[in-house]
Amino acid sequence: MGQLGIYVERYTISSSEEMNALMRLSQVARKLGHRVDFLFRADMYKIPEYDALYIRALTDPLNSAYVAARTAEMHNVKVIDDPDSIRICCDKVNMYEHLITHDVPIPDTRVIGREEITVEKAKELFAILGKPIILKAPNSSFSRYVEKASTVDEFVKVAKRFVRRADRIVAQRFVKSAFDWRVGILNDEVLYVCQYTIPKKHWKILTHLSDGRTVDGPVKGIPIDKAPEGLLECALKATGSIGTGLYGVDLKQTDNGFIVIEVNDNPTINAGEEDQVNSDLYERLIRYLLDINNEK
Ligand SMILES: Nc1ncnc2c1ncn2[C@@H]1O[C@H](COP(=O)(O)OP(=O)(O)O)[C@@H](O)[C@H]1O
Ligand SMILES: [Mg+2]
Repeated sequence: MGQLGIYVERYTISSSEEMNALMRLSQVARKLGHRVDFLFRADMYKIPEYDALYIRALTDPLNSAYVAARTAEMHNVKVIDDPDSIRICCDKVNMYEHLITHDVPIPDTRVIGREEITVEKAKELFAILGKPIILKAPNSSFSRYVEKASTVDEFVKVAKRFVRRADRIVAQRFVKSAFDWRVGILNDEVLYVCQYTIPKKHWKILTHLSDGRTVDGPVKGIPIDKAPEGLLECALKATGSIGTGLYGVDLKQTDNGFIVIEVNDNPTINAGEEDQVNSDLYERLIRYLLDINNEK
């Protein structure tokens, strides 16, 4: 029997889809003979007592979830997500560097420094990348700091706003699609496949409206063996450049094959969505986290 800690924040447990997923995971763990506890920030000191830690909270090197990951690693507690994966995936510049070094196909991408936010640079980028271009703040998640720029003015305005969050930003060629492929990968193996639909009249899977509301589309689960040729290979190559933990790879399908939009650590796993047709994912997560410890 192993002891699993699930590290959560208040917002994790306030999402019913996420909580239901954690309930399913806990049920599977108990069925396999393990004990499961939810750990909050105040329980951080207990992490060394556990065999494994599963983090379900926003992982940024500046967040407490990162401290939890480091604490687990220091005490040889198996952890999802490991601190290295968090550091790489929470900085898109770092993440794209890994992908580029390993020849993973990505949209044509440029890194722009603060001093490069000029009219001349905008013209140069439009000439190289076409119109519109996509701008991203390096630590964006849930599509929050990813925007389009179609004019020089828009480029300067958005880039200046984003550069307040970091000393550099990402500019990218726009790749149109009706949905994002999402491939979940654990320990170099495909865990689930799904499609995140892009709502009509939008271009991101999730849009934050100015009145605080959000617009998203349905999630469609795909059996792993029904994935189109080339998708899984491309996603595995992407995570292979980063680590062996749990990742969610976003990809776009083009006439020239698949391209990787990003590799996420701490990928969303919601009941009824990512587990729709890949319901064994909870057991596989538990076996990854706890079986190896049991063999010690
Ligand atoms: N180069 C691109 N072309 C078209 N759409 C993009 C591009 N990059 C990102 N997007 C879309 O924007 C959304 C968020 O982008 P992503 O890079 O995954 O940032 P985040 O980490 O905030 O999720 C996704 O729906 C993605 O498909
Ligand atoms: Mg994304």
